[in-house]
Amino acid sequence: AGQMEQHRPQFHFSPKNNWMNDPNGMVYLNGKYHLFYQHNPNSTVWGPMHWGHATTRDFFNWEEQPIALYPDSLGTIFSGSAVVDVNNTAGFGKNALVAIFTYHNHKIEEAKTGLHQYQGIAYSNDEGKTWTKYKGNPVLPNPGITDFRDPKVMWYEAGKKWIMTLATKDRITFYSSANLKDWKRESDFGDKFGGHGGVWECPDLISFDVKGKTVWVLLVSINPGGPNGGSATQYFTGDFDGNKFIPSSTVEKWLDYGTDNYAGITWSNTGKRKIFIGWMNNWQYANQVPTKNWRGATTIARDLHLDQIAGDFYVRSVPVKEMNAYVKPVYKKKSLTLNKEIDLSAYAKGLDGKLKLDFTFNTTKSIEIVLSNKEGQKLLIGYDNKTKTYYIDRTHSGASDFEKGFAKKHSAPRIANTTNAKVSLILDVASAELFADNGLTVMTDVFFPESLINGVKLSGNGNQVINNLIISSIPSFK
Ligand code: FRU
Repeated sequence: AGQMEQHRPQFHFSPKNNWMNDPNGMVYLNGKYHLFYQHNPNSTVWGPMHWGHATTRDFFNWEEQPIALYPDSLGTIFSGSAVVDVNNTAGFGKNALVAIFTYHNHKIEEAKTGLHQYQGIAYSNDEGKTWTKYKGNPVLPNPGITDFRDPKVMWYEAGKKWIMTLATKDRITFYSSANLKDWKRESDFGDKFGGHGGVWECPDLISFDVKGKTVWVLLVSINPGGPNGGSATQYFTGDFDGNKFIPSSTVEKWLDYGTDNYAGITWSNTGKRKIFIGWMNNWQYANQVPTKNWRGATTIARDLHLDQIAGDFYVRSVPVKEMNAYVKPVYKKKSLTLNKEIDLSAYAKGLDGKLKLDFTFNTTKSIEIVLSNKEGQKLLIGYDNKTKTYYIDRTHSGASDFEKGFAKKHSAPRIANTTNAKVSLILDVASAELFADNGLTVMTDVFFPESLINGVKLSGNGNQVINNLIISSIPSFK
């Protein structure tokens, strides 16, 4: 292996060179998971958007592919989705991949007409290698809405039609189609629901079977207005009948309470399995983060589940099960009582700034994980029993002068109501992903330590009992 690049994630996807933001067009086909992404191939900052492309069979070994979609006379290529057209409804061929995306026309934007975003489609008959833009683009012209973007399309079996979930400024608009080319407006949702601290973007509508009943979840990214500042993804639970989304709860719910999981959506063509990936960044500082040849990465891919707690539905996110094949325990301890700090660094040394940490603890008491490096930079991750919140504190975790709001402590409410809590922490050089209570409360934060994390301590007192502690190594895929 060559010299490790500073801050380069070793088991998360990041482009070899230049800028990435949102994951786009994720679709499963013939054993491969495709990931497209907002990409500026000419610079490490945001600019004219293309769809970059990468494929994987296991969400860890990623192969970067040639750029899939280039800007054309209609505009640059903003976010969107892709489907397998099993029944050839569009006439591009049986099992053609069809991408549905937003065109962003900078010329029209400069003319300030507000009509600069509209939807187009493209298809591929060779598993995503080459793409042809549809001659009839745009398939959904702009009706006079400034922010009119990020189509997520799914096949709605009950009504035998395609449903497009589109972000339309401060709400979501649903459209339907028989052929992916002609779209009819169905309804709007959201102007009176959810957070409105910023513009709504990158929605996704997915369903889960819960005890024989279908429950729908609408993911909506919002920027700014996240629970810890900047960009974040909220979600709504309810019902969808092919025409309208009807929420069943007004409780505020966030898919991830950290600052660095944005614009995520799920793979299509995966049956009942719902696999999610997000952009591990935040518009508040995305263009300034101190990485060199590239900017941006994805979160770990996550399996989404729906749990019922105190009569309400909550999404539970866990790292994809494919991860188990790569996680190797290096230290196990059945039980440990904390009355002061315990140093576990001996087991973290030599793991190259990557690890997985699992344990259960008692929520009537606090607990803190202290990750550190040789410069004494620290990332603190913990649970505060007084406020019943999980937190990640990156105030003194390394480089932070690139943006004034970066060096902060972030917190998240505990949703589970059991006394014991299980936590899983995944560290990959410059990111920490906390899956608490089997993924009911999730926090994803990036941070930029000058050198690799090699210290791990657990801090607690009052006979805090830690059970089933496991420290594991994770290989590098670079
Ligand atoms: C979300 C977003 C999308 C848009 C894309 C542009 O991060 O703003 O709404 O399509 O990024 O790159």
